[in-house]
Amino acid sequence: MSKKILILAGDGIGPEIVAEAVKLLVALRDRFGVDLEMDEALVGGAAYDATGHPLPPETLAAARASDAILLGAVGGPKWEPLPIAVRPEKGLLGLRSGLGLFANLRPAILYPQLAAASTLKAEVVEGLDILIVRELTGGIYFGEPRGVDTLPSGERRGINTLVYTESEIRRICRVAFEVAMQRNRRVCSVDKANVLECTELWREIAIEVGRDYPDVTLSHMYVDNAAMQLVRAPKQFDVLVTDNMFGDILSDAAAMLTGSIGMLPSASLNAERQGMYEPIHGSAPDIAGQGVANPLATILSVAMMLRYSLDEPEAAGRVEAAVGRVLDLGLRTGDILSPGTRRVGTAEMGDAVVAA
Ligand code: NAI
Ligand code: MG
Repeated sequence: MSKKILILAGDGIGPEIVAEAVKLLVALRDRFGVDLEMDEALVGGAAYDATGHPLPPETLAAARASDAILLGAVGGPKWEPLPIAVRPEKGLLGLRSGLGLFANLRPAILYPQLAAASTLKAEVVEGLDILIVRELTGGIYFGEPRGVDTLPSGERRGINTLVYTESEIRRICRVAFEVAMQRNRRVCSVDKANVLECTELWREIAIEVGRDYPDVTLSHMYVDNAAMQLVRAPKQFDVLVTDNMFGDILSDAAAMLTGSIGMLPSASLNAERQGMYEPIHGSAPDIAGQGVANPLATILSVAMMLRYSLDEPEAAGRVEAAVGRVLDLGLRTGDILSPGTRRVGTAEMGDAVVAA
C-alpha cells in the first residue's frame, strides 16, 4: 500500500525549500519505485491568513491520516503582532502535541566538503556523525505544578517540575536503542542522576531497556560533562538519548558543530512511527522569495522520512549520497559558500540533487 505524505510548506522560505524536496520525492517515486502519495495542507501564517487559525482542524486531521509529514517552516514578522494563541509557531506545537511526537531525532553530521564551515578545528569535527534522541513531550517543559505563586511573606516563587513516568522513559530509550542498531550500536544516556531522582530513574530504565539490546553498548554521562565532551571531542559519541530540556540544549550545541543551519534535518516520531520531518531552521524571512535558501536540510529531512517512517533505508542512503556528490561537485548555496566553490540558487541545488 502506498505511503501517504502530507506536505506542509508553511511560510517564508518554506514553500521554496519544500518545492525542492517534493521534486526529489517525485523522482524517488517515478524512478526508484518508492510507493508514495502526496497531499498538501496549510499550516502557520499561511493557514492563519486563509482560515484565521495556524492549525486548521482539517490540517490536523490530514496529518493524523498520513504516514509522514514534511514541514518547511512557519512564522515571520508579518504575524508577530498576533496573540501567541494564533501565532504560526502555535501551529507547529499543535502538530507535535496533537500527534504525540515524543521522539525528536536530530543528527549532527559534518559533510567533509564543509569542514571549513565549522567553528571548531577540523580534526575535532572531521567525520562527525552523531544523533541526539531527545524526549519531546514530557519532562520539565510539561510537568505540574508549574507557575509563579506568592509566599505568605509576599515573596514570589517560580516553580517548574521535572516529571517522567517509567513508560515515558522506556519508550524514548527504546527509540534510541532501535536507532543505534541501525548505526554503530552505541548509546550514551545523558542524565543528572547524581542530583536529580527523576533522572536516577531515567538511568535505571535505560539500563533495563538496554538488556533487550545485548548488541548495543550503553554508557551514561552527566549532562554537564556531556556538554563539555560535545565541544571537546564530539566524535566519541554515536547516539545520545536524553530528556526534553537536556536534549533541547545539547542538540543546539551539537548542531553548531557542523557549520550551517541550512544543512540540518530533524525527525519527530510518535509510538506508531508516524513522523514529522523538518529542517531545524526557521522561515528565514530575510532571504524569503529570493530563491537563494539552502534546500539541503529539507532534502536530508526527506532521507530521514524514508528511513524512519517509510521503511525505505536504501532510498534514504541514495538521497544522502546524492547530497554528498553535489557538494563534491562544488555546488553551494550562499550559506555554505567558500572559496573555489560555485554559488547556486535553491532550485539549481534541488535539481542537482535529483540528477545525482
Ligand atoms: P531562521 O532559522 O529562520 O534564520 C536564522 C538565519 O539563518 C537567517 O539569517 C536566515 O537567513 C538563515 N537561514 C535559515 N535557514 C536557511 C537556509 N535554509 N538557507 C540559508 N540560510 C538560512 O531563524 P530566525 O530568523 O530566528 O526566525 C525567523 C522566523 O522563523 C521566526 O518567525 C521564527 O519564529 C520562525 N522559526 C520557525 C521554526 C520552524 O518552523 N520550525 C524554527 C525556528 C524559527
Ligand atoms: Mg531549542
